[in-house]
Amino acid sequence: EGDDDLQARPPVVTVMGHVDHGKTKLLDAIRSTDVVAGEAGGITQHIGAYQVTKEHEGNERAITFIDTPGHEAFTAMRARGAQVTDIAILVVAADDGVMPQTIEALNHAQAANVPIVVAVNKVDKEGANPAKIRQQLTEYNLVAEEYGGDTMFVDVSAKQNMGIDQLLEAVLLTADAALDLRANPDKDARGVAIEANLDKGRGAVATVLVQSGTLRVGDAIVAGTAHGRVRAMFDEHGNTVVEAGPARPVQVLGLASVPSAGDTLLVAPEERTARQIAEKREAAERAALLAKRRKRISLEDFT
Ligand code: GTP
Ligand code: NA
Ligand code: MG
Repeated sequence: EGDDDLQARPPVVTVMGHVDHGKTKLLDAIRSTDVVAGEAGGITQHIGAYQVTKEHEGNERAITFIDTPGHEAFTAMRARGAQVTDIAILVVAADDGVMPQTIEALNHAQAANVPIVVAVNKVDKEGANPAKIRQQLTEYNLVAEEYGGDTMFVDVSAKQNMGIDQLLEAVLLTADAALDLRANPDKDARGVAIEANLDKGRGAVATVLVQSGTLRVGDAIVAGTAHGRVRAMFDEHGNTVVEAGPARPVQVLGLASVPSAGDTLLVAPEERTARQIAEKREAAERAALLAKRRKRISLEDFT
């Protein structure tokens, strides 16, 4: 594809940090700032990812947030070779400071070359020491701009909804300064399954992050060893959508089985091809498992 086909796309953000530092609360606070969600009546479904729009330098800018519990979004997907995150928000509670999972999280992001924005959370609390967090993180090469570094630190209170707008601003500034986020929307979609489950009434339900191209109702798809045809799609407000472009998270109905988080989604020319690809992958997985088992048995024979 030529450069001409590439269009700007929203950044995809993951929130990481130590247990209880406020990741969930922050994701809730960010979700509640969304103007579009407000207009729709505010009924948000948990689909594992959502998009908010923000006014930025005179433009409406979208930001996609991966909203799965814990570090799963990052670690499980990276383990499967799927890179979904453009920017990581590292949440550090200002009253608690840098903790083991803070370091683990920043190591993951730095290893993946993902720029970090630090949200210094719980600044409303007595004993909060945001300056100390900045000091502590210099040791890990996260040096605040005000100290001559290039990492943006934003003081927030997820509980009191303070600093959320500045945090979103910092995400967009970091994206514009450090990344060239473009994708071609005018081709068959490629994406990643963020989460999936089996619904009694609706069958397999997968939340997919489209990474390039545009996914449409009616497309024949493969995700890991699952295949099918897109029967319906929903956004995070539960509204039906007929197409989803780059960086758009969308709930997809129509797969015959449940894919795994991190599975790549592809569009096939027809449903038959989608099934063939899925079956081939399943056979390969079975063969690999069998080979592993055989190896274990032969080792046991000699020990
Ligand atoms: P895990 O998912 O268990 O790792 O926790 P988490 O990082 O998602 O933290 P969570 O959002 O559940 O918040 C943990 C606790 O801190 C909850 O009791 C929140 O109400 C509280 N909390 C979160 N943000 C703030 C804040 O800005 N100020 C205060 N005072 N409390 C907060
Ligand atoms: Na918690
Ligand atoms: Mg949580």
